[in-house]
Order: sequence, then structure tokens, then C-alpha cells
Amino acid sequence: SSSSSSRKGRLPPHVGHWVPFLGSMVSFGMRPLDWLAEQRKQHGDIFTFTMFGREMTYVLGPDGNHAVLNGKLADISAELAYNSLTKPVFGADVVYDTSNPVFMEQKRFVKAGLSAENLRSYVPLIEAETLNYFTRWQGQQGEGELAKALAELTIMTASRCLMGEEVRSNLDESVAQLYHDLDQGFQPINFLFEKLPLPAYRRRDIAQKKMADLFLDIMKERRATGRTNNNDVLQVLMDADYKNGTKLTDIEAAHLMIALLMAGQHTSSTTGTWCMSFLAANPDVFAELTTELYNELGGDWSRPLDFDLLKRLPLLDACIRETLRLRSPIYAIMRKVVRPVEIMGHVVPAGHYLCASPAVSQRDPEVYEDPMAFKPRRWLDTSNNAQMQKILRAETDMAAAEDFGFGVVGGSARSNYLPFGAGRHRCIGEPFAYVQLKTIIATLVREFATFEFVMGPEAFPKEDFTSMIVMPEKPIMIKYTRRERSPLSGAA
Ligand code: HEM
Repeated sequence: SSSSSSRKGRLPPHVGHWVPFLGSMVSFGMRPLDWLAEQRKQHGDIFTFTMFGREMTYVLGPDGNHAVLNGKLADISAELAYNSLTKPVFGADVVYDTSNPVFMEQKRFVKAGLSAENLRSYVPLIEAETLNYFTRWQGQQGEGELAKALAELTIMTASRCLMGEEVRSNLDESVAQLYHDLDQGFQPINFLFEKLPLPAYRRRDIAQKKMADLFLDIMKERRATGRTNNNDVLQVLMDADYKNGTKLTDIEAAHLMIALLMAGQHTSSTTGTWCMSFLAANPDVFAELTTELYNELGGDWSRPLDFDLLKRLPLLDACIRETLRLRSPIYAIMRKVVRPVEIMGHVVPAGHYLCASPAVSQRDPEVYEDPMAFKPRRWLDTSNNAQMQKILRAETDMAAAEDFGFGVVGGSARSNYLPFGAGRHRCIGEPFAYVQLKTIIATLVREFATFEFVMGPEAFPKEDFTSMIVMPEKPIMIKYTRRERSPLSGAA
């Protein structure tokens, strides 16, 4: 192993472009996954292109995923890639604004807050919020807009479970606006231009401060009154100690809560929206899901959901898994190279952005037959597909180790299925996201007998790649019929 400074060698192929400053941004920006797959055919699994003056090196396929997600701390940095974007939104001293070992401890605090016991207590809360929310879709039949409903429902349920009921009860007034202003500070433009005097930045900074104050006030109030809520993440953070014996400060806890709010909102809400869109386009799958749920409810539509019941819905699991395969909200994972790294026989110089795109691997026809089709059942019968068996085995092993029954933490990065990343930066929100999504979707399946696009199956929403998260194009108009609330109406 030679010292890093002596690492010399071939640069990755540079993908030609026509507009010097914009670089490959135009073709990349509109349809990045198609574009990456196209470049991969021409140049192989590693190539560089220029985007707004930055050198972006993509490494594709399972080996590329491994190189980025299991890269050495000394070689590549998430902090240098993300912090200019995240610090103004989250606040100081958390996530990418602290040393990696400290952030790893912070992640462990959050993970402790997302214990199986806590997740269990969230199911009835999420179910009640969902039923309550969908009273807004009035009448036995009617039309509603899906993306807005899922976005509002996601923030309501996430805040109720993770942030505490105090935040949820404020949500209808101040918090929604604060969230919106923070969110506006979280756009690609902020990644490209960090220091423009944009009015949105001013609103973002004000919102960051107010949001942090909101959490600080709640913590103060809880301490003053001795009132605790053992089931929310905020409480766990209030009581958390670093390994060296110092406490996580309240201001750090507040900033971490903002980080969780931002990390969990668009990811979960778009996944829910995509999944319900796939179901609207596939009434046969919707009908099968109905049967699965009806049987597990013992033929009683009025029985409430619970955590154990959620574990017994393999088709629903498969629908979410398949949605995440085709519509991973985070389609590119980025690091900045701090010392030259050797990957696939090339040397990627310091200063490059090193990117993986698990989403590209998740559409690989070598692994997934008919890769662009939504076929949740492919996850239920993998007897002819050794690669998918390996993916599922990795997931089940980890799920068992974590005692969640679904949703996993850890795992190999050399994989064709990584919607939650892998390695030290892997998502810790997956179990929560699964509980949230399964509860919401199961509740909708129980509530609605039919759920289809107003404009027919052709109306399936297109992908919008212009924000940080792959969003469905809006509006998504749904026409629904409510189920008769009677056990006799059956699943048929
Ligand atoms: C990290 C995806 C929901 C909190 C990640 C990463 C991915 C991801 C791909 C890795 C990023 C990287 O390596 O740069 C998703 C998806 C979600 C979801 C697809 C939902 C369907 C959530 C939720 C929370 C959350 C609900 C919070 C409750 C986090 C945190 C990290 C993370 C704290 C760690 C970032 C790091 O270590 O650098 N997520 N996420 N996520 N996610 Fe999620």
C-alpha cells in the first residue's frame, strides 16, 4: 500500500460536453438515471463529468456502490460534500458539522429512540392520524390529490411520533410555515450557490432559529414540569450522554431534531405517494393487498392495526420494497475526495465529488427481469434469482439482528439494492419509515374499496428530478370509493 500522495494513474474517462460552464448539467439534470445508464454503456462503470464547474465522478454498479459507501474516512468525506447545504438548515454541531465519530454517536442516540418498543407505540398514533386526515376526502366517493395528502400526513405522523405531541399540536399553525421556509433552503440551488443574498436564505435562517427555539422551549418545559414522554425521540436525546461522559446539549438535540425532520419528510412522503400511485395503476395488486390485510384482520375491517400485524403483511412489504427499487428518493449519494483514491483501475483526484447511484443498480436488467415494471411479487418468489435471494437474505439477517421484523440497519454495500445506503452513513430511519408507510398504506387499503387515477392508468406521474429528492409530478388526482364499514362487505 503506497502512500496516498504517490497514488498516480489514469483518470476516469471524462464525458464530453458542449456547454463549458453548464457542463453536462442539462442532459444530466432532466433525466439523470437514463443519462447515467447511457454513459455507463459507453464508458463503463466509472466516468467524470463537469457540472457547474465541479468535477463529478460517478462509480456505478455494486462495486461503485461499495467504493463510495464503504470508502475510507481518510479518503472521502460526506461532511465536505454536504455541510454547506445542511448546516444552515439543521444548525451547528450536529450531523456534518461535527467530527464523524461524534456524529456516529448522535446517530446511535437516534437509533436508540427508534427502538422496537417505541415503534410499536407509534402504530395506533399513525393509524389515528391517517383516519382523521382522510376525513378531508369526503363522501362515499369523490376525488382527492394524493401528493398533498401524503406530504401533510407524513409531517403530522413524523412530528407526533418523533418530535413529541407538543410539536404536532402546533403543526397546523406556526410549524408548517417554518418547515416550508427551511425546506426552501434545501434545494439544489443552495448546493450550487452557497452565498447568494437570496431572500429565501434569510427566511431559512429565521426559520432555523425559530424551529430550534421551539424544541428548546419544549425541552425546558418538560424539565420544569418533570413531564416526560418516553416514547419520542426528543426525550431520548434529552437524556443522552456521549461516551466521554458529557451530555448532548439541548441545542444539539434541537438541531438533531430539525435534521430528522428534514431527512424523514420528503423521503417518506414521496415513497408513500409513489407506492399509492403504483397501486392506483395496478388495481390487481390493490385487490391482492386488500385480501392479505382482510385475512390478517381475521375478516374484521374494524379491528385496529398493530405492530405484530404489520409484520405479517409480506405483500405490503414487497410493494414498499419494489417502490423503493424503482423510485429511490435519493438517487445519488455524494462524497468529496480528500486524498486521491484508486477505484476500478483509475485514480480519482482530491477535490472531485465521488457519487454512487444505487438507483441505477436497482434498474439493472441483469438482476431484475423486466426492470422498469412494478412487480412486487418478484420479491415473494425469488427461487430463480440468486442475486435477489442474496439481497433478501442480507435484509432478513439484519432485520432479525435488529428485532424489527422489517427494516434493516447495516449491510453490505456491494449490492444491487440499496435505497437506504450502506456503511457508516446508512439510514437509521428505515424501520420508522417502514412502520409509517405500512401503517398509512394499510389504513388506506382498509378505508378505500377503489383507488384509481381520475385520468386513468396512463396518468401515472412522471419523475421530477429538479429537487434533491425525486418527486412525482403534481397534481396526482385520485378518484376513490369508500369501503362499506361492515365485516360482511368482505375483501372481494
Ligand atoms: C441516511 C434514504 C427515511 C434519517 C440516508 C441515506 C439514504 C437514506 C440513501 C444515506 C445517505 C448517504 O450515504 O449520503 C432514506 C429513505 C427513506 C429515509 C429512502 C424513506 C423511505 C429517513 C427517516 C429518517 C432518516 C424517516 C429519520 C427519522 C436519516 C439519517 C441518515 C440517513 C439520520 C444518516 C446520514 C449520514 O449518516 O450521513 N437515508 N431515508 N431517513 N437517513 Fe434516511
